[in-house]
Amino acid sequence: MTKQISSVVTLFFLISALVILLEGCSKEKEEAGAVQKKETTETVKDKSESKNFSAGAAAGKELFYMKSGSNNISCADCHNDGTNSDNPLTKYFSDIRGADKRTSTYHGKFKGEDVKKHASGASVCWENYLKMKTPLTDEQINNLNEFYATLTSPDAKTEIVYETIALPSKNKAKLKEVQKVITGLNGDPVKGEEKFKLSCGTCHGENAKIKKVPDIFDEFEGNVKSIVFNVRFGDGAMPFYNEEKLSNQELADIAAYIMKRNEK
Ligand code: HEC
Ligand code: HEC
Repeated sequence: MTKQISSVVTLFFLISALVILLEGCSKEKEEAGAVQKKETTETVKDKSESKNFSAGAAAGKELFYMKSGSNNISCADCHNDGTNSDNPLTKYFSDIRGADKRTSTYHGKFKGEDVKKHASGASVCWENYLKMKTPLTDEQINNLNEFYATLTSPDAKTEIVYETIALPSKNKAKLKEVQKVITGLNGDPVKGEEKFKLSCGTCHGENAKIKKVPDIFDEFEGNVKSIVFNVRFGDGAMPFYNEEKLSNQELADIAAYIMKRNEK
């Protein structure tokens, strides 16, 4: 009798051991399969990227999307590369597509060889708008140039001509005229609020995403004229807006909104 029980027990143990062993094996197989699957998708992704992207272009793209440590702004906040037009500010500044093919950039500031050497003008933005302490390196410039070359657009331009009084130098005489025009217009603060959200709201106000920006809704000491000065000339990390993209009437509306918010 005891012999019988012990053999049943032994059999039970043997079967359990077998079940555990089999389960373990299939699990290992599953895991191996998962690893293999992961490797395959990664290779596919690498291949598709390398079709359009060299290592340099990929590094250039990374730089284009990198947030500056000093004020949290990136190139992609201001310029469209064909994929980020959702960002409202890209409507106000030039399209980056075709920047490598331009014969002149930054309103004639860079021509000929200088276009490539300054990554089509990015060197200015790097220092002024991203507030970087050290200039772009030759490698970073090459990377940006390679990145531009991967971007195509049906209407890419060899030169962008924009109506501005900020370039090639700040035209102070013209500013006075513009200030007179804008103070003479009837600004609509309701329209101004809408426009402000799109053209200034990334940096100023309640939904600002940028660091170290002055508060212009509280204890603002300026007036309509000084707002025109800041917007048409730009100031430090603030870009200038040209007349084609932001009209005098729109600027008058924005100024009316800012002044209204500051009424106490
Ligand atoms: C705060 C907004 C802002 C940021 C950030 C910025 N730029 Fe600009 N960029 C401008 C303005 C303003 C101009 C001159 C007017 C224009 O092109 O609309 C300009 C001009 C340029 C031009 C020349 C366009 C032309 O053909 O005249 C290039 C190229 C450029 N930027 C690249 C870059 C790159 C690359 C970065 C990131 C390192 C960058 N920018 C960051 C605002 C910005
Ligand atoms: C990319 C971010 C950015 C955008 C976009 C921007 N600003 Fe600015 N703005 C700044 C920064 C930074 C300063 C401070 C400039 C400095 O002193 O270096 C500033 C300064 C100002 C000042 C002066 C503040 C003072 O206390 O004197 C005014 C007015 C102003 N901006 C209005 C505007 C308006 C209006 C718009 C939209 C049409 C706008 N800004 C868009 C970043 C921005």
